[in-house]
Amino acid sequence: MSINPKPQSSLLTFILLLLLTSSAYSSPNHPGSDEESDDLEQLLAVDEQLQQDLPLQHQQSEAETVSRAQRIVLELSGDNARRVIGGNEFVMVLGYAPWCARSADLMPKFSEAATALKEIGSPVVMAKIDGDRYGKAASEMEIKGFPTLLLFVNGTSKAYTGGFSAEEIVIWVQKKTGAPIVTVNTVDEAQRFLKKYHTFVVGLFNKFEGSEYNEFVKAAKSDDEIQFVETSDSEVAKLLFPEFKTSDVFIGMVKTEAERYTSYGYFFAVDDDKSYVVHVAGSYKMENILEFLSKNKFPLITKLSESNTAWVYSSPVKLQVMIFAKADDFQNMAQPLEDFARKFKSKLMFIYIDITNENLAMPFLTLFGIEHANKTVVAAFDNKLNSKYLLESDPSPTNIEDFCSGLADGTIPQYYRSEPVPDNENASTVTVVGKTFDELVLNSQENVLLEVHTPWCVNCEAMSKQVVKLAKHFKGFENLVFARIDASTNEHAKLQVNDYPTILLYKSGEKEKPLKISTKLSAKDMAVFINEELKPRGGSAKDEL
Ligand SMILES: *[C@@H]1O[C@H](CO)[C@@H](O)[C@H](O)[C@H]1NC(C)=O
Ligand SMILES: *[C@@H]1O[C@H](CO)[C@@H](O)[C@H](O)[C@H]1NC(C)=O
Ligand SMILES: *[C@@H]1O[C@H](CO)[C@@H](O)[C@H](O)[C@H]1NC(C)=O
Repeated sequence: MSINPKPQSSLLTFILLLLLTSSAYSSPNHPGSDEESDDLEQLLAVDEQLQQDLPLQHQQSEAETVSRAQRIVLELSGDNARRVIGGNEFVMVLGYAPWCARSADLMPKFSEAATALKEIGSPVVMAKIDGDRYGKAASEMEIKGFPTLLLFVNGTSKAYTGGFSAEEIVIWVQKKTGAPIVTVNTVDEAQRFLKKYHTFVVGLFNKFEGSEYNEFVKAAKSDDEIQFVETSDSEVAKLLFPEFKTSDVFIGMVKTEAERYTSYGYFFAVDDDKSYVVHVAGSYKMENILEFLSKNKFPLITKLSESNTAWVYSSPVKLQVMIFAKADDFQNMAQPLEDFARKFKSKLMFIYIDITNENLAMPFLTLFGIEHANKTVVAAFDNKLNSKYLLESDPSPTNIEDFCSGLADGTIPQYYRSEPVPDNENASTVTVVGKTFDELVLNSQENVLLEVHTPWCVNCEAMSKQVVKLAKHFKGFENLVFARIDASTNEHAKLQVNDYPTILLYKSGEKEKPLKISTKLSAKDMAVFINEELKPRGGSAKDEL
């Protein structure tokens, strides 16, 4: 899918993919069944009719065709695609497939955006192409998956990097087609602006010129998602950002929630339960403004949903505290959580997940071995280190705060999954779990042959049989223990295995560097290998099979 983000961590990538896939295939919508897309089809039919009814010389007028179609969304075909893209400065194309549910979800938003863009006089042509029906034209545009959004600027395509609501599409298109900032001159205009936008960046400049202003414009163009607004009127500025600091230049970010106003160059600090606004002399450079945005655009506590996982993942704060709770329980703890979010801002990101939304919550919770969750769970992920943490005590405000402090200091140990410790008495193959890995494998005096398996792996069962055979063969052999661990339910920092089954030989005294035995070897060759490795110098360990 060409509009997906490119996450780096395998763990979260897996969850993201899971969520994206489930939202793609669980939706029963398909184009045509959707009311809004029905409307769209009808409007397009009207457009086509109008076009056919026109006298020939008008039909040939490119501008006419485009401006009529721009009323909503122009349907491209194999015939007109190249003409439309080549003949217009800005063409935004939605590549869709009739069977694709995510296309169907996006289409009404795209057409809503098209209408809004037309209302504000945007020069962009909004078009869509059925990439299934017009495969050749679509592949010429490099549409490789569905849905794909592309902006053609004088015929050259630019990948879409904005959000997927109608409003976000409008903001992105405006940014990339020459209108990155809304200018507000009067209090009336400011009031209208405030009705429309709830999250935005405001810039107050004495004059719309100079290097600081230019950097602000560059940031507005470069950012992909937030509406920028500018004014030179301090009355207007007061309305948009009541707490603005008077100076020649002021930049601030406005959001809808508890942390409504954030000033550029200042940050909020809490110390000894008192809060301060700290001023750090920041230079008005595009990079700094963008960094300010990426650090401040997220709410104090972000609610995770099926549609914002990629956005949440893009946060520069990679250590993320996740609160899994029912809506009521979350409400009850929201106040202290907001305080913690302020306190640990820029170190920890706070995310709330409705625990009753199983599609969203379970992929995370199962990573902690939690199969049924009725109570609030507080956990954390470090997406940079690819590690996870669990608050194992009661999730009281005090315990959560301690957990957060520990995360911020790096003193909370990583969480590793483990099954309960099993009874291994008389077992010919010892079952190792996360909790007993140290004791039975790393710290034991014996040589340990460890079979790492999972319930779902294709060749694991055959390999298990082979290991049982080996265990029998080496029965009574001094100093060699056969062990197995189910890696789907047990983890350990020192057990980093990606392929299953994996056979590891932990030699006594060399436990830090286990030998990997190829699973392609026959039982006999494995026995030979083990003999070779374990035999005392000069002597033979055990006869071949
Ligand atoms: C597109 O091409 C026209 C004509 O050459 C030019 O005036 C315009 O600046 C170009 N637009 C962009 C965004 O490069
Ligand atoms: C949680 O709920 C499930 C079913 O919803 C129930 O079977 C289970 O016993 C509950 N667990 C606890 C700890 O309340
Ligand atoms: C283990 O073996 C011993 C001796 O053969 C026997 O007495 C004992 O009952 C066995 N334990 C189990 C749990 O089978």
